[in-house]
Amino acid sequence: MEIKIETATIRLLDKLYEIEEQCFDQEAFTKRQIAYLLTDYNTIALVAKADNNIAGFIIAQEEIENNILYGHIITINVASTYRRKGIATKLLKEIEDIFKQKGITECHLEVREDNKAALKLYQNSGYQKIGRIEKYYDKTHGLYLKKTL
Ligand SMILES: CC(C)(COP(=O)(O)OP(=O)(O)OC[C@H]1O[C@@H](n2cnc3c(N)ncnc32)[C@H](O)[C@@H]1OP(=O)(O)O)[C@@H](O)C(=O)NCCC(=O)NCCS
Repeated sequence: MEIKIETATIRLLDKLYEIEEQCFDQEAFTKRQIAYLLTDYNTIALVAKADNNIAGFIIAQEEIENNILYGHIITINVASTYRRKGIATKLLKEIEDIFKQKGITECHLEVREDNKAALKLYQNSGYQKIGRIEKYYDKTHGLYLKKTL
């Protein structure tokens, strides 16, 4: 299976929203939120195409805190039929490479404490837990992860 990573554009909104809905229940971004993210000047969004089908996507932004510019992964989703094929790992690596080219040396993200698949993915990709976020998603706690690029 050939996996290609490309820039995501607003033209793919319907497909990206379909995957988002498949990946999350109440926590899914709305179509309007995804549209906003895809068109925000500060966003970097990529899609993974597997044999020319959209299999997953990642959306990240550049943020600044205490005068330090860092990358923030907002969401990463892979359609269920394409999971465990290395697609999320590839999307993460591509976005980290883009951050590095921009001189950004840190990448941050948040994840539900009980999202074992995502946690394993992030830990395998070199992210480390740096904090816990109380009641991040309704009653479930979240974890704050960071990687030095
Ligand atoms: C989490 C998610 C993005 C992983 O996508 P993926 O393309 O299947 O991930 P990869 O194939 O790159 O997996 C990399 C590693 O992560 C771990 N991993 C991924 N899915 C896993 C699962 N269901 N259970 C345990 N470990 C898992 C494994 O260590 C895997 O390596 P391996 O397959 O060689 O064992 C995908 O399951 C998904 O879209 N989930 C719903 C949305 C979501 O939770 N997004 C993250 C929000 S913070």
